[in-house]
Amino acid sequence: MIRLDKYLADMQIGSRSEVKAYIRKGRVKVNNIVVSDPNLKVKEGDSIFFDDNIVTYEKHSYYMLNKPAGVVSATRDNLSETVLDCIKDKKHKDLFPVGRLDKDTEGLLLITNDGELAHRLLSPKRHVDKVYYATVKGVVNDDDKEAFAKGVIIGDNYRTLPASLQIIASAEISEIKLTIHEGKFHQVKQMFEAVGKEVIYLKRLSMGSLILDPKLKTGEYRFLTEEEIARLKEI
Ligand code: URA
Repeated sequence: MIRLDKYLADMQIGSRSEVKAYIRKGRVKVNNIVVSDPNLKVKEGDSIFFDDNIVTYEKHSYYMLNKPAGVVSATRDNLSETVLDCIKDKKHKDLFPVGRLDKDTEGLLLITNDGELAHRLLSPKRHVDKVYYATVKGVVNDDDKEAFAKGVIIGDNYRTLPASLQIIASAEISEIKLTIHEGKFHQVKQMFEAVGKEVIYLKRLSMGSLILDPKLKTGEYRFLTEEEIARLKEI
């Protein structure tokens, strides 16, 4: 049970006072009957219409953002633009990014208000795969591949889990794809530092079953499809 005005405001039909006015003007129907009381309680199974368009209640929303560089993975920041500023038509107020990408990292970032799913995706126990594309200063070679497969020491004497390195181009500036199964602070950059190389560009391509949509330019976003949401929830 939820108050009608809250239902409509939650679904971004307007502010609480705007939707109250819409209700009083007769623009809202519940189960095909015009209603005038904003305090009316609606329940699951009721059909709510605004200007004869059905308004379905979605508790959660899920956005795929192709994060641009220069934007911080936070809900608020005094100095920099945040990933939430990239989402212009927020369906919910309590959105947050699932995990973090560094300010200069681009690529896949899931933004949602589904705390339970976020918790599961980020849980260190679940080892959700993350795939990154990077350009690296230095000749990345098979020794690095072996080192990453065994795990390298980063930070405070922590040995990373085995990671899978795919070399796309081995040259003064190398190109690679790296799959890791955890998400330590600056992990990809630190792993290359551990083998004496420097990441100069980093982009996340996937997280678990969720793959960055190649149609999204940096800074663009879209809603996840029902199928993408269902697959993510399988973990
Ligand atoms: N690893 C990094 O070093 N940075 C990121 O943003 C993500 C993974």
